[in-house]
Amino acid sequence: MMLHIEALLDKNEVARMRQLLAEASWSDGRATVGPQGARVKQNRQLPVDSPLALQLGEFILQKLYQHPQFLAAALPHRTVPPLFNSYAGGEHYGLHVDGAIRRLPGSGLSLRTDLSSTLFLSEPDEYDGGELQVMDTYGAHEVKLPAGDLILYPSTSLHQVLPVTRGERICSFFWTQSLVKNDIQRSMLFELDGHIQALRAQIGDTAEVLGLTGHYHNLLRQWSEL
Ligand code: NI
Repeated sequence: MMLHIEALLDKNEVARMRQLLAEASWSDGRATVGPQGARVKQNRQLPVDSPLALQLGEFILQKLYQHPQFLAAALPHRTVPPLFNSYAGGEHYGLHVDGAIRRLPGSGLSLRTDLSSTLFLSEPDEYDGGELQVMDTYGAHEVKLPAGDLILYPSTSLHQVLPVTRGERICSFFWTQSLVKNDIQRSMLFELDGHIQALRAQIGDTAEVLGLTGHYHNLLRQWSEL
């Protein structure tokens, strides 16, 4: 399932972030990928341990973990500190799949990448190209969102970032390990949750709505792992 989360950051928050990022020193994006990624990746990133990346990343995670749609769709267990990248002058990231396991810096812990997020920090009219293209069984989906919006998609998908032929595309990106590893089960829980909430809004907390809520939690109990 792919989910578009609108206005995770408001325009003022984006502007403040962009101001800070404009003064940052960027380095070669190949620092954070394995050999397959390095062959097709051409962009710039903030170094993983850059204080600015950590500061902005923490702010993004705070917003994310308060967002009902993200919580319901991702059922997050843990998320890596967000990274930041920039594409300009024809830079791109060819077709690849993200590594399954990532170390959490400074903790000795690792995380399974179930869900990938891209948070757009440039407005679509600031650059040409730069679409995030995600493949699934229904074909290729091209994503280019307003600044402050986020796309959540399964990390199991092949994906690429098309060349940026004008302007600059700045994004934040990161991975989440979900409590529910299986994408289909996670999507079913998300849909069920949405229907229950809609029903509750229509008819209130009837015995049937409570029963369905119980059913949701029992499924989550069956399918989640901590
Ligand atoms: Ni990727």
